[in-house]
Amino acid sequence: MAHFTPVLRASLIFVIVGSIVCSSGTTSQYENVSTNEYVNGATIFGRCANFSIQAGTSVSFDGVQTDVASGNVGVAPGTSINGTPLLGTGYAKEVCTSSAQNCAADEATAYEYLKGLACTTTLANADLSGVTLLPGVYCTGSGVFTLTATALYLDAQGDANAQFIFQTTSTVITAASTNIILINDALAKNVYWQVGSSVTLGASSSFMGQILAYASITVGGTANVVGRLYAQEAVTCSSAATITLPSQW
Ligand SMILES: *[C@@H]1O[C@H](CO)[C@@H](O)[C@H](O)[C@H]1NC(C)=O
Repeated sequence: MAHFTPVLRASLIFVIVGSIVCSSGTTSQYENVSTNEYVNGATIFGRCANFSIQAGTSVSFDGVQTDVASGNVGVAPGTSINGTPLLGTGYAKEVCTSSAQNCAADEATAYEYLKGLACTTTLANADLSGVTLLPGVYCTGSGVFTLTATALYLDAQGDANAQFIFQTTSTVITAASTNIILINDALAKNVYWQVGSSVTLGASSSFMGQILAYASITVGGTANVVGRLYAQEAVTCSSAATITLPSQW
């Protein structure tokens, strides 16, 4: 048995006792890692992470060749998935399976959480055409967002954890051939749209981020979405739209 000086013995006891009794404490479920981070996606979307489309009542693939390049397509508690999308390897239609039911529960929680975040910037103009936004929680007085032409730029200023959160009490509508362009490390997984009613994405448009719609989402023909489409009622995708799961949180 080694002989320690009293001071060393005391500090050893402190370390040993400390390692036994010290608890790590409670951390917030939504603890931030960046000042531009408002929500922990992995936590609130836990069991939805691998779903690129999830609806409460029905999912419809109109026309032909809609490509769900990655992600599962789920419906719960409804049981209706109409049409035949192309599905990425390893992904499936989840028709009211336990996975789809779990995702529906997490999606409802995530919707309420996003809805409850404090808006950091109220935009005077609901039309995001040609606008560049920095990370934040955005809302409008009119309770809608539109993208009527050209593009919306989301600039993360080099912070790959930076989030862009959009809150509406009503709709999001993008016009044909509009784009959302991510710059300076902005990532689709860090963009969220909490929508009080429905979303319409224009034909041949490109759209980035997680949509959580209280009612429905309609994706136009040949539109390209990198994100997740969650609606508590219906999701409808037109011919040759492409939906791709973003990188995971
Ligand atoms: C998502 O898929 C990956 C790869 O198959 C898997 O490791 C992970 O556990 C899945 N996540 C959830 C929440 O099911």
